[in-house]
Amino acid sequence: MPRDLYTFHGHRHFIAYFCTPNHHYFNTMKVTVVGAGNVGATCANVLATREVANEVVLLDIKDGFAEGKALDIWETAPINLYDTRTVGATNDYAKTAGSEVVVITSGLPRKPGMSRDDLIATNSGIVKSVTNSILEHSPEAIIIVVSNPLDVMTYCAYLTANKPSQKVMGMAGILDTARYRAFLAEALDCSPKDIQAVLMGGHGDTMVPLPRYTTVGGIPVTELIEEEKLNAIVERTKKGGGEIVNLLGTSAWYAPGAAAAQMVEAIVRDQKRIFPVCAWLTGEYGINDLYLGVPVKLGKNGIEEIIELALNDEEKALLAESEKAVRGVAEVLDRMNAEA
Ligand code: NAI
Ligand code: 2OP
Repeated sequence: MPRDLYTFHGHRHFIAYFCTPNHHYFNTMKVTVVGAGNVGATCANVLATREVANEVVLLDIKDGFAEGKALDIWETAPINLYDTRTVGATNDYAKTAGSEVVVITSGLPRKPGMSRDDLIATNSGIVKSVTNSILEHSPEAIIIVVSNPLDVMTYCAYLTANKPSQKVMGMAGILDTARYRAFLAEALDCSPKDIQAVLMGGHGDTMVPLPRYTTVGGIPVTELIEEEKLNAIVERTKKGGGEIVNLLGTSAWYAPGAAAAQMVEAIVRDQKRIFPVCAWLTGEYGINDLYLGVPVKLGKNGIEEIIELALNDEEKALLAESEKAVRGVAEVLDRMNAEA
């Protein structure tokens, strides 16, 4: 039945319950998003609109800020026709108790001229305290970090959480591949839905888009676009975050918020989706003890599998360069922790 027809007749939930195989509309899922700023509020909005959880808690340290954003989002429910409740909290972690998944977006965004790495000292302090507070009330929660510098803030959450690495991960690859796919869709004048791609490495200028693993409706992209144009798109993707910063004076939020929400959805609905995710590596790709972007399978247990691609020498060299860059930042965090 067309969605608008059952919505019109006011039987949407009755029909959805009996027509959807997994009965997701009636689970009792709670998700928290920490940081009600640009990315956090967007993520909460997407989670609510898509009814990924019954309750989405938005938490911030600024007095009344999360409550205001949550109320505004909730007031879209009668327009957008969903049931998810959005609840705001000013630093009150009791309201987050029992969350299945927590997205951490709290931290400073990058300003023009500021590198992601400049953010490390401030944002690691925030990520540590937020992780501790979250786990006090939701010890089983799966954690998705968004704060920058992404790979190292995810490492920071992992060190703080003392949980299996499958349950602590970072969001960057979905965003970076989305940018790559959007640019390709424009260049090829085709639907972005048909572009599938993998991208690896750190969330920074050393990220490694993989044209060899990029397809358009199943056709290798290299058969559809000249090498020069493809290389230009790869380069634009690597600087995709900076492109938005230069235009807006602050970093992106629509695509980052939607990307984080897509990870939450894959976990909450046990979708077993294959996404590039910042994951803890213990020998995969010959890399040890580092959080880095790799393709994974995401389901109810978090990262259920790290997929190892057979990279060629050129791709391996690019990944090694990215590993080196991220390890350098991770060492800064290690030094800070050792001195603390
Ligand atoms: P924003 O400034 O709009 O929001 C951040 C929010 O965090 C603010 O509302 C602030 O009050 C809150 N906050 C700060 N300390 C807190 C604490 N201790 N507890 C709770 N809330 C706290 O920033 P925006 O644009 O939402 O970006 C958030 C973070 O995400 C930044 O670090 C940014 O660099 C990063 N980012 C990462 C991306 C990725 O691909 N991983 C993409 C886009 C942004
Ligand atoms: C982005 O890629 C700055 O990490 C942020 O948009």
